[in-house]
Amino acid sequence: MSESGCQEANDNRGNPEQRPPRPAVGNKVTVVLGAQWGDEGKGKVVDLLAQDADIVCRCQGGNNAGHTVVVDSVEYDFHLLPSGIINPTATAFIGNGVVIHLPGLFEEAEKNDRKGNGLKGWDKRLIISDRAHIVFDFHQAVDGVQEQQRQEQAGKNLGTTKKGIGPVYSAKAARSGLRICDLLADFNQFSERYKMLAQQYKAMYPTLETDVEGELLKLKNYAEKIKPMVRDGVHYMYEALHGSPKKILVEGANAALLDIDFGTYPFVTSSNCTVGGVCTGLGMPPQNVGEVYGVVKAYTTRVGIGAFPSEQKNDTGDLLQTRGKEVGVTTGRKRRCGWLDLVLIKYAHMINGFTAIALTKLDILDVFSEIKVGLAYKVDNQTIPHFPANQEVLQRVEVVYETLPGWNSDTSAARSFEELPDNAQKYVRFIEEHVGVPLKWIGVGKSRESMIQLF
Ligand code: GDP
Ligand code: IMO
Ligand code: MG
Repeated sequence: MSESGCQEANDNRGNPEQRPPRPAVGNKVTVVLGAQWGDEGKGKVVDLLAQDADIVCRCQGGNNAGHTVVVDSVEYDFHLLPSGIINPTATAFIGNGVVIHLPGLFEEAEKNDRKGNGLKGWDKRLIISDRAHIVFDFHQAVDGVQEQQRQEQAGKNLGTTKKGIGPVYSAKAARSGLRICDLLADFNQFSERYKMLAQQYKAMYPTLETDVEGELLKLKNYAEKIKPMVRDGVHYMYEALHGSPKKILVEGANAALLDIDFGTYPFVTSSNCTVGGVCTGLGMPPQNVGEVYGVVKAYTTRVGIGAFPSEQKNDTGDLLQTRGKEVGVTTGRKRRCGWLDLVLIKYAHMINGFTAIALTKLDILDVFSEIKVGLAYKVDNQTIPHFPANQEVLQRVEVVYETLPGWNSDTSAARSFEELPDNAQKYVRFIEEHVGVPLKWIGVGKSRESMIQLF
């Protein structure tokens, strides 16, 4: 740039009259995030908030997630679709950060549509970002082979859901992945890239069985089916944020301790399930993030392998498992169970900045005469001030518990805070004080109605 051009630009900046006005922030999104190892009851919290939402979004993960929503005694389960699609007036948006297995998506929509009141007009209300990556059947097969190899080579696997999540996010980072926009462009070019990718996997995993031509044929059909749903996701979100006032809800999948950066690595999933994933997974600025609700189960569960400091491999754990019906929605595996661990809730809050908490499944604790809550970690008899990154250290931590009296009575019919037994009220307030975040909801059952709202 010439010296005079540079001078001119400086002059403009110096004159407030000539500066463009500060851009309007626009609508803010409300975010629901898991604060533990998943299955906290995010689906139920989303369902509550989605009843008057205009747009419901997923920003990360794939069909490794399993979110249950119970309406009029009918149980719906969502994996890839935002659970809020159950509101017949909401538009559902699958953002660029999500990885999509197309057969899985249609199977899920059709299965839920056959239940209860169904998902009225779901195919007209679903928008898919053209930048989202596609999970192919071979990614799922590779997930299985990798798990088998981990078992053979290291004596333990990760316990993945085998939905192809690790392989597809790896391909995304390696820049060999294929996206929805590629599927909808020139199909011959797409087929070439698809075959190349399949060959790469075949070279790495010779036992892998792939039906390249068969899958391409199916993909061509899916391309036609999704064409009317696909948009430029960034433009779609921009319009949603800056058009008329709208209620926009973002449904986090998986959870803080499964986050690829902040979770109990390597026993984590492959996406950012903390608040940063909202911006990168939808293509929107942080200034548009509004309320961030953390979902916390009144005790702790974990599916799959990895350190779990407050795990109870005893009668307590068994009772939590059976009373809580703690079985994975996606894989049918029994969930490991333990006491509530506030060290990890505080850690999740440091990353996400929760504006309020939804505490779920309080009713499951109804039969315990004493309830323990983890308050601190000790390593080699020293209290540590942080949540350890290293898994060997996390395996060794000793949890310092506070024991609170139980309430030994049924809370499932309570519909207000005052209707909860004294000791249940104390348990809830204890959590709130220790985490330093207000509790907005308390769950005492599966249904929509069994959610106590505090403010
Ligand atoms: P998500 O993955 O976080 O959406 O949670 P899941 O759906 O995988 O698991 C939570 C399970 O707990 C589901 O079966 C819910 O129906 C159930 N649930 C949610 N909130 C409550 C509650 O407050 N009480 C009871 N008893 N069950 C609940
Ligand atoms: P929702 O959304 C519980 C766990 C798996 C495994 C690890 C990696 O229902 O809370 P992956 O298939 O993602 O590569 O598996 O992460 N995992 C979950 N556990 N709830 C989930 O989702 C999970 N999503 C992934 O069990 O240990
Ligand atoms: Mg789940």
